[in-house]
Amino acid sequence: MKTSNDIIVIGGGIIGLSIAIDLKLRGASVTVCARSLQEGATYAAAGMLAPQAEAIPAGPMLDLCWRSRSLYPDWISKIEDISGISTGYWPGGILAPVYEPIPPGTTGPTDSELTATWVDKCHLDLYQPGLGEAVVGGWWYPEDGQVDNRALANALLKAARELGVEIREGVILEGIIQRQQQAVALRTNQGELHASHYVLATGAWSHQLLPIPVHPKKGQMLSVQVPVNSPVPPLTRVLFGPETYIVPRRDGRIIIGATSEDVGFTEGNTPGGMKVLLERAMRLYPVLADYPISECWWGYRPATPDEWPVLGASMTANLTFATGHYRNGILLAPITASLIADWILQENTDPLLPQFSYQRFFTSSPQLNASPMSNSLTYATAKPSVPSPDSLLEQLDQPVTIAGRSFQSRLMTGTGRYRTMEEMQDSIIASGCEIVTVAVRRVQTNAPGHEGLAEAIDWSRIWMLPNTAGCQTAEEAIRVARLGREMAKLLGQEENNFVKLEVIPDPKYLLPDPIGTLQAAEQLVKEGFAVLPYINADPMLAKRLEEVGCATVMPLGSPIGSGQGISTAANIAIIIENAQVPVVVDAGIGVPSEAALAMEMGADLVLINSAIALAKNPSAMARAMAQGVEAGRLAYLAGRIPVKSAASASSPLTGTIAP
Ligand code: GLY
Repeated sequence: MKTSNDIIVIGGGIIGLSIAIDLKLRGASVTVCARSLQEGATYAAAGMLAPQAEAIPAGPMLDLCWRSRSLYPDWISKIEDISGISTGYWPGGILAPVYEPIPPGTTGPTDSELTATWVDKCHLDLYQPGLGEAVVGGWWYPEDGQVDNRALANALLKAARELGVEIREGVILEGIIQRQQQAVALRTNQGELHASHYVLATGAWSHQLLPIPVHPKKGQMLSVQVPVNSPVPPLTRVLFGPETYIVPRRDGRIIIGATSEDVGFTEGNTPGGMKVLLERAMRLYPVLADYPISECWWGYRPATPDEWPVLGASMTANLTFATGHYRNGILLAPITASLIADWILQENTDPLLPQFSYQRFFTSSPQLNASPMSNSLTYATAKPSVPSPDSLLEQLDQPVTIAGRSFQSRLMTGTGRYRTMEEMQDSIIASGCEIVTVAVRRVQTNAPGHEGLAEAIDWSRIWMLPNTAGCQTAEEAIRVARLGREMAKLLGQEENNFVKLEVIPDPKYLLPDPIGTLQAAEQLVKEGFAVLPYINADPMLAKRLEEVGCATVMPLGSPIGSGQGISTAANIAIIIENAQVPVVVDAGIGVPSEAALAMEMGADLVLINSAIALAKNPSAMARAMAQGVEAGRLAYLAGRIPVKSAASASSPLTGTIAP
């Protein structure tokens, strides 16, 4: 089935639905696709609108939260009017009790102009009777509040439907098909879906689709029910205590939250989690101890390294990010919807939006962003006015992009077969490469030559390409790829979803299995990997791999480690001609002229390991290979002359004197 829409919002949580409604109200045609409308953080949240109680430091994030909180009253009225559903919006203030006396002169936990009042223990009863003995006072934030997030989710869904937003539930996204940095379709369990623009609002699951550092932070929660005819005065304020919060709803439920756990998508409530929640909540508000427990649940906050959301442009021209709202998704829905609709419809770009760009996570790595050409040898004979080949290359070339990530260097190297760790380290530096492939299995098993390897490379400067070397079947390769992703995470590359896929049953020629490679690639793409498959130079297979969503294709020049050069040139030329993804010539290159040849043919990158590692002087060979790659690329960009069957004199004969 093929369908076409103006804008597809991927994700049916509060962020996705709010954006869809805003876009629709501004005249766009919008579809929301979601796997489930209830599995995300929206349904699990407590619904606090609490920039101050959450103690968000002054800066762009507090500005964003504050602006969103100011939008809430009008935004809620609009949603309630359209949907006819009450959202339980309760701007009743939040009390933040503390157990430690505050130092004299403290003006408030947030350095901002927002109102905060310190309340002494003797006045606390005025705000909320029944607090625990250990409470010594508290901050009162009159402008914070709450909304019943589940009621709001229902209201948003109904409003979206009323407005004519198409809602498609049960859509499992298998991948985003991209060509030349444009998203062309969503590959889903319901067929391909097409739009002119896509919005990624998939919360904690976002990194499974694109390489952005958004990861699940699990929160366990529970609720109790205030008994009818309870003699205790009702809880009317949200209590935001140390490591716990207690949120009363108008219908007598009291929500208690929340743990904060780095356990991935591990499901379930645990006895340990419940114990911690109950102890903290009863310390803060002891009367809870007698209320019947009505529900326990858990959810996954979409956390980013700096705890700010990722909003606006992505690596793909027609795909916008709206994810990573961590603890503040309910609060940030109105401002996110407004900023994202502005951005997509190009009505204006709020100066706040660029602060939340995904690019902030990709700028801390000097080598990944600086041109490695700056390491190049200088040319003593070149006159100052003549640009060096390197700066010419910089002028003429663009960075190469793989799965949305840009690289200046077009040489990838490996870590295998070096005689010493030092030789490997020196060679990586000399090569100027930005991508190094690592055999996951060998690192995991500490195979000879791989002890301490993972730690020997500065992964803040080099992008890891875990590979599945040693895997003979698709199943093994899939398992090892998953381990590779964990390995990259452990080494600090949280967002790295790259895998070099090798399925090699043949030990003599080390030739890859095309069927196993295709099967494994399909599965890994579905799991959100950026798959770089190592293949024989088979143009049909390359095309099939591209169609299933691989990030590159990596045809071999000749068997691994053979140094036979590019014996598959004719097929590689066809692959290059047809490919929409980068082509990496992998394996067989023995000398720099062969690396140059691959690049002259139009390959996007080359991967060289053995020819460097086993050279007499590996780091010198690494540098020579880098120069071969640079020369080949520059020649490709310069445009070679056509090959002719006959001579063509280099000195024109016109005007010469006949004998
Ligand atoms: N917004 C509260 C939490 O994430 O636990």
